[in-house]
Amino acid sequence: MTQEAPARPRPTPYPAHLLTTPTGDLRHLPGHDGLPLVGSTVEYFADQEAWSVNQNRRYGRVWRSNILFNVGAVFQGADAAETILLDRDKNFSSLLGWSQNLASFFSGGLMLRDFDDHRFHRRLLQSAFKRPAVEGYLAQMHPLITGAVASWPAGATLRFYPRIKRLLLDQAAAVFLGMPLGADSDRVREAFTALTLGTVAVVPFAVPGLAKWKALRSREYLVRYLRGLIPARRGSDGGDMFSHLCREADEEGGRLTDDEVVDHMIFLLMAAHDTTTSALTTLVEALGRHPAWQDRLRDEARGLGVEQLSWGDFDRLPLADQCLREALRLYPPVPTLPRRTLRACEIDGVAIPANTAVWLDNYFIQRDPAHWTRPDDFDPERFSEGRAEHKRHRFSWIPFGGGAHTCIGMQFATMQAKLVMFHLLRRYRWRLDGRGETRRQMIPFPKPGDDLPLVFEGVDR
Ligand code: HEM
Repeated sequence: MTQEAPARPRPTPYPAHLLTTPTGDLRHLPGHDGLPLVGSTVEYFADQEAWSVNQNRRYGRVWRSNILFNVGAVFQGADAAETILLDRDKNFSSLLGWSQNLASFFSGGLMLRDFDDHRFHRRLLQSAFKRPAVEGYLAQMHPLITGAVASWPAGATLRFYPRIKRLLLDQAAAVFLGMPLGADSDRVREAFTALTLGTVAVVPFAVPGLAKWKALRSREYLVRYLRGLIPARRGSDGGDMFSHLCREADEEGGRLTDDEVVDHMIFLLMAAHDTTTSALTTLVEALGRHPAWQDRLRDEARGLGVEQLSWGDFDRLPLADQCLREALRLYPPVPTLPRRTLRACEIDGVAIPANTAVWLDNYFIQRDPAHWTRPDDFDPERFSEGRAEHKRHRFSWIPFGGGAHTCIGMQFATMQAKLVMFHLLRRYRWRLDGRGETRRQMIPFPKPGDDLPLVFEGVDR
């Protein structure tokens, strides 16, 4: 007799008004409301880094703000991060926090689920992130990385950001979706780029030709495309992430429906590639500015004495690990983590009403002088065993978040970044193209405003 799968938890049924009613009264917090209607949106977009630091100077680690038609409380302390991310009393909704930016394009993704429903889905996704699956992805990545990196022109200036974005999107098509490179993967790549841009559309309506409209059309295309592939993937033994999601069931027989597989895949592609693109861009830029560190990492990579990295090699690159951590500290690819309170509560000694937007500013937390020595410096030694500054507070280094919604792709991202670095370092030495500091664009993901022009020179391998 077949055992019936247990009833699945239903998505948390929040009343619609939670999203549309104004946030609770925050006038007891310091802060300013900015201009009528737009609040501080203009100030914020003009320079998000300076904004975060200046507000802290004026108001301390908790203040109210009004951005993108949304009033909320900003928290810049590691203690607040611990309270919000561990969420022991189930006070904070990730679904409602992220909905304003992501619901139209990424509904059904893991971050847009709460509590029992979230746990149920996270368990079903977990097998696609376990060692055997990740080992399979890594094997597929090697030839793609070596092929792409080898084709970069030595001696000429190239903009790193679009190159690495393209490389990671091609990898995502292969490793996540199991697609060969070609016309379909080009179309998927374009659709994805438009979808991400929709999350920061200045005009929040679907006006034909503008960003939100393009993003919604791109989502429709991706849904149609992925749905069409599901029947074949349900029965396949493919090693790509999509096939894993189509096939896996949890111990109790739970399985994802077609709609859920599509929603999760679209979310995963977004969550995975822009974040890692941003992290690698920050790291490669820092190594361009600090050639001595670049040389140390190159020596470390060569010292392994292998042409390709296998599972056990990733732990044998401690300096690369320190440098990656430092890049993620200086420019966390997700610099703000939004939540919405479900009931009145206290965070870091401050009363916050129910139904209120709270934003965790991990860009600031990761540079808080309370936890970091000379926080604006690129100083990977701070992660060495001797100094271990990241151990001063459990929640002072949170580029992958924390608690129930901790990044499910953390291990995958770390390995992928090290893999790319391994191949870059062994093939090239790079330097900045004579430029000084350029303003960083923080939204939707941090990157240098000029896309990081670099000169790559070949090195003996
Ligand atoms: C350097 C790369 C990455 C960074 C910095 C990063 C960062 C984050 C952060 C901060 C969160 C938590 C958001 C919150 O609590 O509101 C998160 C969640 C998530 N990430 Fe990542 N991520 C990265 C790469 C990846 C990759 C490669 C994947 C998939 C292959 C992925 C999939 C996800 C998913 C599915 C969630 C939602 C988890 C949940 O809600 O349970 N991420 N990520």
